[in-house]
Amino acid sequence: MVDIRFDGKVAIVTGAGGGLGRQHALELARRGAKVLVNDLGGSMDGSGGGSDAANKVVEEIKAAGGEALSNGSSVTDDAGVALMVKQAMDAWGRIDILIANAGILRDKTFAKMEIADFEVVLDVHLLGTVKPAKAVWEIMRQQNYGRIVVTTSSSGLYGNFGQSNYGAAKLGIIGFMNTLKLEGQKNNIHVNAIAPVAATRMTEGLMPPAVLEKLKPEYVTPGVVFLCSEEAPTGAILTAGAGAFALSRIVETEGVYLGDDGLSVEEVRDNWARITDAEGQQAYQTGGEQTAKVFRKMQGG
Ligand code: NAI
Repeated sequence: MVDIRFDGKVAIVTGAGGGLGRQHALELARRGAKVLVNDLGGSMDGSGGGSDAANKVVEEIKAAGGEALSNGSSVTDDAGVALMVKQAMDAWGRIDILIANAGILRDKTFAKMEIADFEVVLDVHLLGTVKPAKAVWEIMRQQNYGRIVVTTSSSGLYGNFGQSNYGAAKLGIIGFMNTLKLEGQKNNIHVNAIAPVAATRMTEGLMPPAVLEKLKPEYVTPGVVFLCSEEAPTGAILTAGAGAFALSRIVETEGVYLGDDGLSVEEVRDNWARITDAEGQQAYQTGGEQTAKVFRKMQGG
Protein backbone atom coordinates (compact mmCIF):
# COMPACT_ATOMS: atom_id res chain seq x y z
CA MET A 1 0.00 0.00 0.00
CA VAL A 2 1.30 3.46 -0.88
CA ASP A 3 1.65 6.13 1.77
CA ILE A 4 -1.00 8.82 2.01
CA ARG A 5 0.45 12.11 0.73
CA PHE A 6 -0.97 15.61 0.32
CA ASP A 7 1.48 17.08 -2.20
CA GLY A 8 -0.18 19.91 -4.10
CA LYS A 9 -3.04 20.02 -1.61
CA VAL A 10 -3.96 23.02 0.52
CA ALA A 11 -5.37 22.69 4.03
CA ILE A 12 -6.87 25.08 6.55
CA VAL A 13 -6.79 23.95 10.18
CA THR A 14 -8.66 26.13 12.66
CA GLY A 15 -7.54 26.37 16.27
CA ALA A 16 -4.20 24.92 15.20
CA GLY A 17 -2.01 26.98 17.52
CA GLY A 18 -1.96 24.22 20.14
CA GLY A 19 -3.40 20.89 21.21
CA LEU A 20 -4.99 18.64 18.60
CA GLY A 21 -5.14 21.22 15.80
CA ARG A 22 -1.41 21.81 15.97
CA GLN A 23 -0.74 18.07 15.55
CA HIS A 24 -3.17 17.85 12.61
CA ALA A 25 -1.43 20.81 10.93
CA LEU A 26 2.07 19.40 11.50
CA GLU A 27 1.13 15.97 10.15
CA LEU A 28 -0.58 17.34 7.03
CA ALA A 29 2.46 19.52 6.35
CA ARG A 30 4.82 16.60 6.95
CA ARG A 31 2.90 14.74 4.26
CA GLY A 32 3.24 17.53 1.72
CA ALA A 33 0.20 19.77 2.28
CA LYS A 34 0.47 23.54 2.33
CA VAL A 35 -1.20 24.53 5.56
CA LEU A 36 -2.92 27.67 6.74
CA VAL A 37 -2.64 27.61 10.52
CA ASN A 38 -5.50 29.51 12.15
CA ASP A 39 -5.65 30.31 15.82
CA LEU A 40 -7.08 33.18 17.75
CA GLY A 41 -4.82 32.44 20.71
CA GLY A 42 -6.51 33.33 23.96
CA SER A 43 -7.45 31.34 27.02
CA MET A 44 -9.53 28.21 27.25
CA ASP A 45 -12.75 30.10 27.98
CA GLY A 46 -12.32 32.13 24.81
CA SER A 47 -11.02 35.36 26.31
CA GLY A 48 -7.96 37.25 25.09
CA GLY A 49 -6.13 36.46 21.88
CA GLY A 50 -3.25 37.11 19.46
CA SER A 51 -1.44 35.49 16.54
CA ASP A 52 1.55 34.12 18.49
CA ALA A 53 0.24 30.56 18.79
CA ALA A 54 -0.45 30.25 15.05
CA ASN A 55 2.87 31.93 14.18
CA LYS A 56 4.80 29.41 16.27
CA VAL A 57 3.25 26.44 14.50
CA VAL A 58 3.96 28.03 11.13
CA GLU A 59 7.60 28.39 12.17
CA GLU A 60 7.69 24.73 13.19
CA ILE A 61 6.30 23.66 9.82
CA LYS A 62 8.76 25.85 7.93
CA ALA A 63 11.68 24.63 10.02
CA ALA A 64 10.77 21.08 8.98
CA GLY A 65 10.81 22.14 5.30
CA GLY A 66 7.06 22.62 4.86
CA GLU A 67 4.94 25.50 3.60
CA ALA A 68 2.56 27.31 5.93
CA LEU A 69 0.78 30.58 6.59
CA SER A 70 -0.51 32.01 9.82
CA ASN A 71 -3.91 33.55 10.53
CA GLY A 72 -5.04 34.96 13.88
CA SER A 73 -8.74 35.42 13.13
CA SER A 74 -11.56 34.16 15.24
CA VAL A 75 -13.58 31.47 13.48
CA THR A 76 -16.68 33.36 14.59
CA ASP A 77 -15.69 36.56 12.80
CA ASP A 78 -17.04 36.82 9.24
CA ALA A 79 -14.35 39.23 8.05
CA GLY A 80 -11.64 37.18 9.78
CA VAL A 81 -12.84 33.95 8.18
CA ALA A 82 -13.00 35.63 4.77
CA LEU A 83 -9.44 36.87 5.27
CA MET A 84 -8.25 33.38 6.25
CA VAL A 85 -9.66 31.89 3.06
CA LYS A 86 -8.33 34.78 0.95
CA GLN A 87 -4.82 34.29 2.39
CA ALA A 88 -4.84 30.62 1.37
CA MET A 89 -6.33 31.33 -2.07
CA ASP A 90 -3.95 34.22 -2.81
CA ALA A 91 -0.94 32.15 -1.86
CA TRP A 92 -1.89 28.74 -3.22
CA GLY A 93 -4.98 29.10 -5.43
CA ARG A 94 -7.07 26.28 -3.99
CA ILE A 95 -8.38 24.78 -0.75
CA ASP A 96 -8.71 21.02 -0.53
CA ILE A 97 -9.02 20.41 3.16
CA LEU A 98 -10.70 22.14 6.08
CA ILE A 99 -10.31 20.84 9.61
CA ALA A 100 -12.73 22.77 11.82
CA ASN A 101 -11.12 22.19 15.18
CA ALA A 102 -11.17 25.47 17.13
CA GLY A 103 -12.95 25.29 20.45
CA ILE A 104 -13.42 26.62 23.96
CA LEU A 105 -15.05 25.47 27.18
CA ARG A 106 -17.37 27.20 29.66
CA ASP A 107 -18.26 24.23 31.88
CA LYS A 108 -20.97 24.65 34.51
CA THR A 109 -24.02 22.69 35.51
CA PHE A 110 -27.09 23.88 33.66
CA ALA A 111 -28.47 25.22 36.94
CA LYS A 112 -25.52 27.60 37.26
CA MET A 113 -25.00 28.37 33.59
CA GLU A 114 -25.69 31.83 32.26
CA ILE A 115 -27.23 32.00 28.79
CA ALA A 116 -24.15 34.01 27.78
CA ASP A 117 -21.99 30.92 28.51
CA PHE A 118 -24.29 28.90 26.31
CA GLU A 119 -24.25 31.39 23.46
CA VAL A 120 -20.51 31.87 23.32
CA VAL A 121 -19.85 28.11 23.25
CA LEU A 122 -22.46 27.59 20.53
CA ASP A 123 -20.96 30.47 18.60
CA VAL A 124 -17.36 29.23 18.67
CA HIS A 125 -18.08 25.54 18.05
CA LEU A 126 -21.15 25.55 15.83
CA LEU A 127 -20.95 28.83 13.90
CA GLY A 128 -17.16 28.61 14.14
CA THR A 129 -17.49 25.39 12.11
CA VAL A 130 -20.25 26.64 9.80
CA LYS A 131 -18.55 29.90 8.80
CA PRO A 132 -15.22 28.44 7.61
CA ALA A 133 -17.14 25.60 5.89
CA LYS A 134 -19.34 28.13 4.10
CA ALA A 135 -16.29 30.17 3.08
CA VAL A 136 -14.60 27.17 1.42
CA TRP A 137 -17.73 25.40 0.15
CA GLU A 138 -18.03 27.16 -3.22
CA ILE A 139 -14.29 26.81 -3.80
CA MET A 140 -14.51 23.07 -3.16
CA ARG A 141 -17.59 22.78 -5.40
CA GLN A 142 -15.75 24.55 -8.22
CA GLN A 143 -12.76 22.26 -7.76
CA ASN A 144 -14.99 19.20 -7.59
CA TYR A 145 -12.95 18.18 -4.60
CA GLY A 146 -12.95 18.81 -0.89
CA ARG A 147 -12.43 17.13 2.44
CA ILE A 148 -13.93 18.67 5.58
CA VAL A 149 -13.38 17.28 9.05
CA VAL A 150 -15.52 18.70 11.84
CA THR A 151 -14.73 18.16 15.49
CA THR A 152 -17.39 16.71 17.73
CA SER A 153 -17.13 15.19 21.19
CA SER A 154 -18.37 12.30 23.30
CA SER A 155 -20.01 15.06 25.36
CA GLY A 156 -22.29 15.82 22.43
CA LEU A 157 -22.75 12.24 21.32
CA TYR A 158 -23.45 10.80 24.76
CA GLY A 159 -23.57 13.63 27.34
CA ASN A 160 -21.24 14.88 30.03
CA PHE A 161 -22.00 16.49 33.35
CA GLY A 162 -21.45 20.27 33.26
CA GLN A 163 -21.31 20.49 29.47
CA SER A 164 -24.86 21.19 28.28
CA ASN A 165 -23.63 24.15 26.18
CA TYR A 166 -20.68 22.27 24.72
CA GLY A 167 -22.70 19.08 24.16
CA ALA A 168 -25.43 20.96 22.31
CA ALA A 169 -22.86 22.65 20.07
CA LYS A 170 -20.97 19.41 19.42
CA LEU A 171 -24.06 17.45 18.41
CA GLY A 172 -25.24 20.42 16.34
CA ILE A 173 -22.05 19.96 14.36
CA ILE A 174 -23.11 16.38 13.58
CA GLY A 175 -26.47 17.60 12.29
CA PHE A 176 -24.59 20.05 10.09
CA MET A 177 -22.31 17.29 8.77
CA ASN A 178 -25.25 14.98 8.06
CA THR A 179 -26.63 17.41 5.49
CA LEU A 180 -23.29 18.56 4.06
CA LYS A 181 -22.34 14.94 3.39
CA LEU A 182 -25.40 14.72 1.09
CA GLU A 183 -25.05 18.11 -0.55
CA GLY A 184 -21.30 17.65 -1.14
CA GLN A 185 -21.54 14.22 -2.71
CA LYS A 186 -21.90 15.19 -6.35
CA ASN A 187 -18.86 17.48 -6.13
CA ASN A 188 -16.67 14.91 -4.38
CA ILE A 189 -16.75 16.83 -1.12
CA HIS A 190 -16.56 14.42 1.79
CA VAL A 191 -17.48 15.57 5.28
CA ASN A 192 -16.61 13.57 8.36
CA ALA A 193 -16.37 14.11 12.11
CA ILE A 194 -13.75 13.29 14.69
CA ALA A 195 -14.64 12.72 18.33
CA PRO A 196 -11.24 12.88 20.02
CA VAL A 197 -9.94 12.16 23.47
CA ALA A 198 -6.58 13.76 24.12
CA ALA A 199 -4.45 15.35 26.78
CA THR A 200 -4.53 19.04 25.95
CA ARG A 201 -5.11 22.13 28.05
CA MET A 202 -8.82 21.26 27.74
CA THR A 203 -8.39 17.99 29.61
CA GLU A 204 -5.43 18.67 31.91
CA GLY A 205 -6.44 18.31 35.53
CA LEU A 206 -9.33 15.99 34.61
CA MET A 207 -7.18 12.85 34.65
CA PRO A 208 -4.00 11.71 36.41
CA PRO A 209 -0.68 12.43 34.59
CA ALA A 210 -0.04 8.73 33.89
CA VAL A 211 -3.34 8.50 31.99
CA LEU A 212 -2.76 11.79 30.16
CA GLU A 213 0.61 10.44 29.00
CA LYS A 214 -1.30 7.75 27.07
CA LEU A 215 -3.59 10.33 25.47
CA LYS A 216 -1.21 12.35 23.34
CA PRO A 217 -2.90 14.44 20.61
CA GLU A 218 -0.64 12.70 18.08
CA TYR A 219 -2.55 9.46 18.74
CA VAL A 220 -5.74 11.12 17.40
CA THR A 221 -4.18 12.82 14.37
CA PRO A 222 -3.75 9.72 12.14
CA GLY A 223 -7.53 9.27 12.17
CA VAL A 224 -8.12 12.91 11.27
CA VAL A 225 -5.52 12.89 8.52
CA PHE A 226 -7.07 9.74 7.03
CA LEU A 227 -10.41 11.60 6.94
CA CYS A 228 -8.62 14.36 4.98
CA SER A 229 -7.36 11.94 2.35
CA GLU A 230 -8.75 11.07 -1.06
CA GLU A 231 -9.78 7.69 0.37
CA ALA A 232 -11.88 9.24 3.14
CA PRO A 233 -15.44 7.98 3.62
CA THR A 234 -18.20 10.55 4.03
CA GLY A 235 -20.54 11.11 6.95
CA ALA A 236 -18.50 9.05 9.42
CA ILE A 237 -18.11 9.90 13.09
CA LEU A 238 -14.70 8.53 14.05
CA THR A 239 -13.89 8.31 17.73
CA ALA A 240 -10.18 8.40 18.48
CA GLY A 241 -7.95 8.45 21.53
CA ALA A 242 -4.80 6.73 22.83
CA GLY A 243 -4.57 4.82 19.54
CA ALA A 244 -8.10 3.36 19.79
CA PHE A 245 -10.42 4.06 16.84
CA ALA A 246 -14.12 3.31 16.44
CA LEU A 247 -17.17 4.46 14.53
CA SER A 248 -20.03 6.15 16.36
CA ARG A 249 -23.42 6.15 14.69
CA ILE A 250 -26.97 7.17 15.43
CA VAL A 251 -29.27 4.18 15.17
CA GLU A 252 -33.02 3.81 15.24
CA THR A 253 -34.87 0.70 16.36
CA GLU A 254 -37.24 -1.04 13.97
CA GLY A 255 -40.02 0.03 16.33
CA VAL A 256 -43.66 -0.80 16.14
CA TYR A 257 -46.68 0.41 14.15
CA LEU A 258 -49.56 1.01 16.53
CA GLY A 259 -51.96 2.34 13.90
CA ASP A 260 -54.22 5.34 14.24
CA ASP A 261 -57.28 3.53 15.50
CA GLY A 262 -57.67 4.28 19.20
CA LEU A 263 -54.02 5.33 19.50
CA SER A 264 -53.40 6.39 23.09
CA VAL A 265 -50.71 7.34 25.56
CA GLU A 266 -51.23 3.98 27.29
CA GLU A 267 -50.56 2.12 24.04
CA VAL A 268 -47.17 3.82 23.80
CA ARG A 269 -46.47 2.92 27.43
CA ASP A 270 -47.59 -0.67 26.98
CA ASN A 271 -45.44 -1.12 23.88
CA TRP A 272 -42.30 0.54 25.27
CA ALA A 273 -40.33 -2.73 25.23
CA ARG A 274 -41.18 -3.30 21.54
CA ILE A 275 -40.49 0.33 20.60
CA THR A 276 -37.04 0.16 22.17
CA ASP A 277 -36.11 -3.42 21.17
CA ALA A 278 -32.62 -3.22 19.61
CA GLU A 279 -33.20 -6.16 17.27
CA GLY A 280 -33.00 -4.94 13.66
CA GLN A 281 -32.00 -1.38 14.57
CA GLN A 282 -30.44 0.63 11.77
CA ALA A 283 -28.36 3.71 10.98
CA TYR A 284 -30.01 5.71 8.20
CA GLN A 285 -28.11 7.71 5.61
CA THR A 286 -30.86 10.30 5.13
CA GLY A 287 -33.95 11.51 6.96
CA GLY A 288 -35.96 10.22 4.00
CA GLU A 289 -34.89 6.63 4.68
CA GLN A 290 -36.37 6.91 8.14
CA THR A 291 -39.64 8.28 6.77
CA ALA A 292 -39.73 5.43 4.24
CA LYS A 293 -39.55 2.99 7.16
CA VAL A 294 -42.61 4.65 8.71
CA PHE A 295 -44.54 4.14 5.45
CA ARG A 296 -43.35 0.54 5.17
CA LYS A 297 -44.58 -0.21 8.68
CA MET A 298 -47.87 1.53 7.96
CA GLN A 299 -48.35 -0.89 5.08
CA GLY A 300 -47.65 -3.81 7.38
CA GLY A 301 -44.04 -4.39 6.23
P1 NAI B 1 -7.05 23.38 22.88
O1 NAI B 1 -7.63 24.39 23.81
O2 NAI B 1 -5.64 22.96 23.09
O3 NAI B 1 -7.19 23.86 21.37
C1 NAI B 1 -8.23 24.64 20.88
C2 NAI B 1 -7.61 25.78 20.08
O4 NAI B 1 -8.67 26.54 19.48
C3 NAI B 1 -6.79 26.72 20.92
O5 NAI B 1 -5.47 26.83 20.40
C4 NAI B 1 -7.56 28.04 20.88
O6 NAI B 1 -6.73 29.20 20.90
C5 NAI B 1 -8.28 27.91 19.55
N1 NAI B 1 -9.49 28.74 19.49
C6 NAI B 1 -10.42 28.92 20.45
N2 NAI B 1 -11.37 29.76 20.04
C7 NAI B 1 -11.04 30.14 18.78
C8 NAI B 1 -11.63 30.99 17.82
N3 NAI B 1 -12.78 31.63 18.09
N4 NAI B 1 -11.04 31.12 16.62
C9 NAI B 1 -9.87 30.49 16.33
N5 NAI B 1 -9.25 29.67 17.23
C10 NAI B 1 -9.82 29.50 18.43
O7 NAI B 1 -8.02 22.12 22.95
P2 NAI B 1 -8.03 20.74 22.14
O8 NAI B 1 -8.26 19.70 23.14
O9 NAI B 1 -6.87 20.63 21.23
O10 NAI B 1 -9.38 20.90 21.30
C11 NAI B 1 -9.46 20.83 19.90
C12 NAI B 1 -10.86 20.44 19.51
O11 NAI B 1 -11.14 19.12 19.94
C13 NAI B 1 -11.96 21.32 20.11
O12 NAI B 1 -13.00 21.51 19.17
C14 NAI B 1 -12.46 20.48 21.27
O13 NAI B 1 -13.77 20.80 21.63
C15 NAI B 1 -12.34 19.09 20.67
N6 NAI B 1 -12.32 18.02 21.65
C16 NAI B 1 -11.23 17.81 22.45
C17 NAI B 1 -11.23 16.76 23.35
C18 NAI B 1 -10.06 16.41 24.16
O14 NAI B 1 -10.09 15.36 24.82
N7 NAI B 1 -9.01 17.21 24.17
C19 NAI B 1 -12.42 15.91 23.52
C20 NAI B 1 -13.48 16.18 22.61
C21 NAI B 1 -13.42 17.21 21.72
